[in-house]
Amino acid sequence: MIVRPYKGYRNPLPKKLHIKTYGCQMNVYDSARMADVLAALGYVFTDKADGADMVILNTCHIREKAAEKVYSELGRLRHLKNARAQDAGEKGGGRMILAVAGCVAQAEGAEILERAPYVDMVFGPQTYHRLPEMVARAERHAGAVLDTDFPADPKFDHLPDQTRVDGKAAFLTVQEGCDKFCTFCVVPYTRGTEYSRPAADVIGEARKLVAAGALEITLLGQNVNCYHGEAGNGTEWGLGRLIAELAEIGGLERIRYTTSYPADMSDELIAAHRDVPQLMPFLHLPVQSGSDRVLAAMNRRHGVDEYRRLTDRLRAARPDLALSSDFIVGFPGETDADFEATLELVREVGFIQAYSFKYSPRPGTPASTMEIQVDDDVKTARLAALQNLLNEQQVAFNQACRDKVMPVLLERAGKHPGQLVGRSPYMQPVHTDAPDNLLGTIAELRIAAGYANSLAGVLVEGEVGATETGAGA
Ligand code: 5AD
Ligand code: SF4
Repeated sequence: MIVRPYKGYRNPLPKKLHIKTYGCQMNVYDSARMADVLAALGYVFTDKADGADMVILNTCHIREKAAEKVYSELGRLRHLKNARAQDAGEKGGGRMILAVAGCVAQAEGAEILERAPYVDMVFGPQTYHRLPEMVARAERHAGAVLDTDFPADPKFDHLPDQTRVDGKAAFLTVQEGCDKFCTFCVVPYTRGTEYSRPAADVIGEARKLVAAGALEITLLGQNVNCYHGEAGNGTEWGLGRLIAELAEIGGLERIRYTTSYPADMSDELIAAHRDVPQLMPFLHLPVQSGSDRVLAAMNRRHGVDEYRRLTDRLRAARPDLALSSDFIVGFPGETDADFEATLELVREVGFIQAYSFKYSPRPGTPASTMEIQVDDDVKTARLAALQNLLNEQQVAFNQACRDKVMPVLLERAGKHPGQLVGRSPYMQPVHTDAPDNLLGTIAELRIAAGYANSLAGVLVEGEVGATETGAGA
């Protein structure tokens, strides 16, 4: 007997989903959560766009370059989609659904559908819990889907629990959105207003991640240190309290958080750096500029001296703490003297790692229409000077790690046989020769060499607990 598929027959084979992620760690988290939502619809992750049934670009709008990349990638994907449609016509099978998610989707919405009409779905960072409805429409060919709402109900209330961990390090969003409105930044417009998840939800998700094998959790938020999650009986917890409670979860060895806003660093959070051994001694604390005048024009709510004193207090709480930061050069009106002040701050504070950017005018932000824009060649020269100094500090720190013993979370196989690669408490990649059974564990390594971007280490056997990580920049 021949069994014919009935009319509503669906291919029982899993559908392939490819997600390309741009930008920050929150996008990495969001992509994983989108994959969780789509798994319930039969989509299985694949690492190639070619042959995928659905391709999602999870985009970043922070600088012009990041946003423009999306359109060039869409151009490439259009060919794959067309080839796929041709195949479908000749051999049967489904077409490719092409989606743009994330902050470019939020900011540009319908414009994407105009520039790239072959896109099937455009949705912002706050609506991906609605993917099942969107996909149903796209699969019915019912026209392009556009969803850039900021729903009243947070998406977290509708997402399935995160229960899978790739490797041993996981991200967990605890806070999202921003009400700071730095004059250069699109985030308040693309991610929406500031929101903290209830503490019980965060702890519940963290427990599940640890049960699924996570040894390290990075708490994420655009302004993670202004976290103020509802904690029952009308009380709220700040990030310091949340971290102290998370540290009680047995098996959670490492806690990190990013990204922080200097003016929101509470006493309780600084104390957590002193009191919670699982909290890693590495903090990303963007300062943007070393000039009070520029900081004021950026609408930052801290001055240079406040930042300096804050780093002193953090180091007093945790003497082996090291810092990384973000910098913008060529902000409108930035003079040579302002830029010199940034270099001076870097020399004074010392950073073991940093991200630095030329100011990029973003549509709709106040700084983009400020009168005195800085010439691009001036920006280029300043960026080079700043990056030289920052690189020097990074290399000096890496070299100063030599002979220290560090706990390293061994995360993946290295290029060479018998080699594993992990991360130090300071996020430095560390290469070592070690047996495979140490993959996914935290091993004590003695650092043999420090390079520009990584370290080499040697397993220390029988010296567990002899950690001394206090390399100073
Ligand atoms: N131009 C250049 N850099 C920017 N950033 C944010 N907006 C802009 C912009 N318009 C940088 C800031 C921020 C980091 C995530 O990106 O340094 O901290
Ligand atoms: Fe952007 Fe400033 Fe908010 Fe950070 S604090 S996300 S730089 S507006």
